[in-house]
Amino acid sequence: MASLAARLFTETYGPTHPEPELSRYLARSFSVEGTREAIADDGVTMLIVEDPKGSAIAYAYLRSSADPPAGVDGDRALEIVRFYVDVVTQGRGVGAALMDKCFDDGKNRGADVIWLQVWKEAPWAVGFYARMGFLVVGSAPFYFGDQVGDDHIMAKSL
Ligand SMILES: CC(C)(COP(=O)(O)OP(=O)(O)OC[C@H]1O[C@@H](n2cnc3c(N)ncnc32)[C@H](O)[C@@H]1OP(=O)(O)O)[C@@H](O)C(=O)NCCC(=O)NCCS
Repeated sequence: MASLAARLFTETYGPTHPEPELSRYLARSFSVEGTREAIADDGVTMLIVEDPKGSAIAYAYLRSSADPPAGVDGDRALEIVRFYVDVVTQGRGVGAALMDKCFDDGKNRGADVIWLQVWKEAPWAVGFYARMGFLVVGSAPFYFGDQVGDDHIMAKSL
């Protein structure tokens, strides 16, 4: 799980988020220990998509959020912390199918809103989330070493 997450982050954001900060970010965000702790958390769901040969090709990391950011309206919120489809698999409906599972997980947990943070300069992801029914409800910074990115907060009622 940790190596899949690090690989897909690098594939997507490596060109715009270079070394030396990239390795530090990967170590901080995708350690085996941190991933193990997240999986053990009752408020967390990790979904992995495998191809017919059993290789991991996509994943989603979901977390109940007691205190969601301004603009996310609801009594019980679920955050999509990470959502990645391997580049060789993109454009074939895997993201939409995985998102449906995220919505199911939210409903099973009694969540009434699902939200996420996405880089404003990632139109491929912003467009996909809009297609999945998310609306931009706010903005937030994203820290990457000295780089401070500008993220959208997007949300959808469940
Ligand atoms: C964004 C991402 C998850 C989409 O997954 P995917 O498997 O390629 O998406 P799908 O093939 O399931 O597409 C689902 C629908 O979204 C639409 N869509 C995809 N990208 C779109 C875009 N940029 N703008 C508008 N619609 C888009 C598709 O056309 C499809 O619509 P349809 O149902 O009418 O045919 C995938 O490209 C990805 O993982 N990118 C890199 C990682 C990343 O940026 N993750 C987000 C981090 S916040």
